[in-house]
Amino acid sequence: MVRLFGLGAGLVFVIALLWGAVQPREAVVPDPVKAIHLHPEQVKFSHDGAMGVFGTFDRAQLQRGYQVYKEVCSACHGLERVAFRNLQDIGFSAEEVRALARAKEVPSIDPRTGEPSTRPALPADRIPGPFINEVQARAANNNALPPDLSLIVKARHDGQNYVYSLLTGYDRPVPAGHDVPPGLNFNPYFHSVNIAMARPLQDDQITYADGTKATTDQMARDVTTFLRWAAEPELEKRRQIGVASVIFLTILSFLAFLTYRKVWANIPH
Ligand code: HEC
Repeated sequence: MVRLFGLGAGLVFVIALLWGAVQPREAVVPDPVKAIHLHPEQVKFSHDGAMGVFGTFDRAQLQRGYQVYKEVCSACHGLERVAFRNLQDIGFSAEEVRALARAKEVPSIDPRTGEPSTRPALPADRIPGPFINEVQARAANNNALPPDLSLIVKARHDGQNYVYSLLTGYDRPVPAGHDVPPGLNFNPYFHSVNIAMARPLQDDQITYADGTKATTDQMARDVTTFLRWAAEPELEKRRQIGVASVIFLTILSFLAFLTYRKVWANIPH
């Protein structure tokens, strides 16, 4: 009887331990941010195509996306892994690329005095950020660092959907009981829900060269598509090679099967 009692007590103890182990941490310490943080909206991007495999980028959209980057985001964010000449891949002519590069100044050395100076960028230069170093970038942004955007789509979970949602997520109402610290902005898609970047896109903020209406949604889609390209310019080529390899391997398997049938045809089992 005592033994049975001891066994029962032990069992209760083990069950309590297991229960504690599988309970999520928030059951004990509720995380107020987690309750209002939102997962990115799932957006259909035209370049993802059928099954996310066959799509190609719309060149006009990529050029609009670059225009948004150039006219809005480049005031704070660099794109240091993309060279101006890479922009020819998205449909700009060599002459247009030269002009886009020339409009930016990059650090240089004055050939006459040897003093640090700047010169107009060349197509071979990377697209520079607006700040010379992190200290200057933070000083201009309330101590927050605007990250380089070249790889941002790869660097964040669910990158494309995240960047789109972040850019369009500023108009969500602040939940009751949540205080936004001064200098920050409420955005439920940002990991801490309070982001130092003020809403960068407003309707009709820019005039698209191709006449498309510049709604916040349109600009967010275009710049996200451009950043997707920037993070992986070889995406289309990789997909084409992938599809071609699968077709090739399918045909090869079929031929191998026929060969097998032929070779073994006259051998008695
Ligand atoms: C006035 C300056 C400014 C402009 C303009 C600006 N940003 Fe930012 N951005 C920031 C700062 C500062 C941060 C860092 C925010 C933080 O850490 O709280 C940031 C962060 C980001 C992040 C990273 C969020 C994360 O998960 O870490 C993305 C993505 C981003 N910006 C995209 C853009 C895009 C796209 C544009 C153009 C449409 C743009 N930004 C325009 C200042 C700016």
